[in-house]
Amino acid sequence: MTTNIVDVHDVVRTFGEVKALDGMSLSFEPGIIYGLLGPNGAGKTTLIRVLATLLKPTSGSATVAGIDVVADPDAVRTRIGLAGQFAAVDAYQTGRENVEMVGRLYNLSKREARRRTDEVLERIDLMDAADRQVKTYSGGMRRRLDLAASMVGRPEVLFLDEPTAGIDPRSRLDIWSLIEDLVERGTTILLTTQYLDEADQLAARIGVIDRGTMIAEGTADELKDMVGGSVVQLTVPQEKQSTVVGLLRSVSGDEPTIDQSNGRMSIPASSAQTLLTVARKLEEASITPDDIGLRKPTLDDVFLSITGHAAEVGEAGPKRPARSRE
Ligand SMILES: Nc1ncnc2c1ncn2[C@@H]1O[C@H](COP(=O)(O)OP(=O)(O)OP(=O)(O)O)[C@@H](O)[C@H]1O
Ligand SMILES: [Mg+2]
Repeated sequence: MTTNIVDVHDVVRTFGEVKALDGMSLSFEPGIIYGLLGPNGAGKTTLIRVLATLLKPTSGSATVAGIDVVADPDAVRTRIGLAGQFAAVDAYQTGRENVEMVGRLYNLSKREARRRTDEVLERIDLMDAADRQVKTYSGGMRRRLDLAASMVGRPEVLFLDEPTAGIDPRSRLDIWSLIEDLVERGTTILLTTQYLDEADQLAARIGVIDRGTMIAEGTADELKDMVGGSVVQLTVPQEKQSTVVGLLRSVSGDEPTIDQSNGRMSIPASSAQTLLTVARKLEEASITPDDIGLRKPTLDDVFLSITGHAAEVGEAGPKRPARSRE
């Protein structure tokens, strides 16, 4: 018997040549928000789709609420909710009709479906638009409606694939508080995100995935600690780079990490003193950096330090359609 609400063992999922999931394992207990972080193409959506029984793994196994996703997908579906990366709502129905219909699919009585629909639409700030056809909604409104629909049945396990991508900051806070409420009422949530602050705020535990596999796991603080308290980050003119690498090595006692895409170098910093030391050494060597600063570690730093290559998207960076590495 397992006490884990989600259990993924060594799952591989290929699409032709592409290994979207490459030996993915993941387990966590009920009652928490688990955050899955990863750059574009890391395999986040593929994992969610496997767990939501929309896609079969090529090999490996996965259970949700103790039920095997391949052997008994129907039983899994009665226990879960899903809000996808791309809103899946009927444009010719009103917002209210969409959400109520999903509530009915969860076997809520008509009255209960109506009551909960009002509640989630209110919470997600769509009441004013509730009786308009969805085709008149903006992109952000559709995403919010999709989220409302995923929550109306109060599923045991809820999968949210980038729930706040493309959503304005104020609505984002509303969604965060809605997610937290759901968890308080007993729903377990697996959410994917590219925003470290979102995982930081919401997730009890975070898994970092890259190239279809788990590369690090822990609380937000544990992940940041892997990079050190803060980092000194600097860029220097190209011709000075090798000198500065040596200089940074002498300060940190280890190789600096270098982001090959832009030449930005960083070393862990135990305090602001590290920054002062680096600045002094640069001055002694008569090197003026293009840019230098002390920062808290970000997802990028976690990625750089774990994988040796940069995440393809920064904390709030633009999305790129596909990844191309080396
Ligand atoms: N249906 C498909 N057919 C072919 N390749 C696919 C398919 N679905 C996903 N892939 C590939 O699998 C890899 C993982 O894709 P996935 O959508 O799971 O990534 P992701 O982490 O969700 O990325 P993003 O942050 O951009 O949403 C990518 O290389 C993608 O091109
Ligand atoms: Mg995705």
